[in-house]
Amino acid sequence: MKNSLLVVGASGGIGGALVSALSQAGEHVIAVSRQTIDSPPWGSSVEVHTLAEYSEAQISSFVNTLNARGVTIKMAIVATGVLHDESNNLHPEKRLEDVSHEALGQYFTVNSIIPALWLKYLVNVLAKEQPSVVALSARVGSIADNQLGGWYGYRASKAALNMLLKTASVEYARRLKQPLLVSYHPGTVDTALSQPFQRNVKANKLFTAEFTARQLLLHLSRLDRTQPCHFIAWDGTPVPW
Ligand SMILES: NC(=O)c1ccc[n+]([C@@H]2O[C@H](COP(=O)([O-])OP(=O)(O)OC[C@H]3O[C@@H](n4cnc5c(N)ncnc54)[C@H](OP(=O)(O)O)[C@@H]3O)[C@@H](O)[C@H]2O)c1
Repeated sequence: MKNSLLVVGASGGIGGALVSALSQAGEHVIAVSRQTIDSPPWGSSVEVHTLAEYSEAQISSFVNTLNARGVTIKMAIVATGVLHDESNNLHPEKRLEDVSHEALGQYFTVNSIIPALWLKYLVNVLAKEQPSVVALSARVGSIADNQLGGWYGYRASKAALNMLLKTASVEYARRLKQPLLVSYHPGTVDTALSQPFQRNVKANKLFTAEFTARQLLLHLSRLDRTQPCHFIAWDGTPVPW
């Protein structure tokens, strides 16, 4: 079977745009979402799968099914993440007093643990040579770059994601030939996630999801594979860890 590309979080603004861009480029795309995507807009080169939740059991079973079908993934993009969730009373913290066990748990579960589980199972279904795994991270997850403070849970969960990716890249490089693991800061993108925080963003710094998908795919094709892990931004520049 032809090598496939996997996008997790296909109902999201960035995830959906990535599925479109990759399918338009003629790739066979496996799109995964927790939502049932009725009438997917992508055409027949996209397989859409619904995982009711990203539990370890569901991720493991989904990857096992791919393996059993003989599917090989040459690139996987985990485009899931949460910054605010009104239904769970989750809002980024402005001050220390806003920090709570419950909110930190939600941020770490979605932004760190779920991508880590994908990293754990995907290694078994990736192409043996030059596979790529991208996780949507954020510049605010950079420890070195943190001047403003606030957003404790989102920042810390993205910093943890970066460390999980970096750590996995050491092991991936032992098991696979020239793997590339990329932690990606997309800039501020006009999606549901950034919607409540767009007021102070200059119009030319608020990117469309389509632009974001194009930029990501462009930079991925140019990254140096002698280094297995990169943290880069939408313009291709490295972000300090
Ligand atoms: N938009 C920005 O300005 C911006 C900036 C920096 C970084 N990012 C990062 O880019 C990634 C994609 O964000 P986006 O802008 O495309 O946001 P989005 O439109 O809200 O999509 C995020 C997707 O994440 C999944 N998700 C959300 N809550 C979840 C939960 N509780 N459990 C499991 N999965 C959940 C959902 O995908 P499914 O239901 O399809 O699985 C959702 O569609 C995130 O990691 C975000 O942190 C975005």
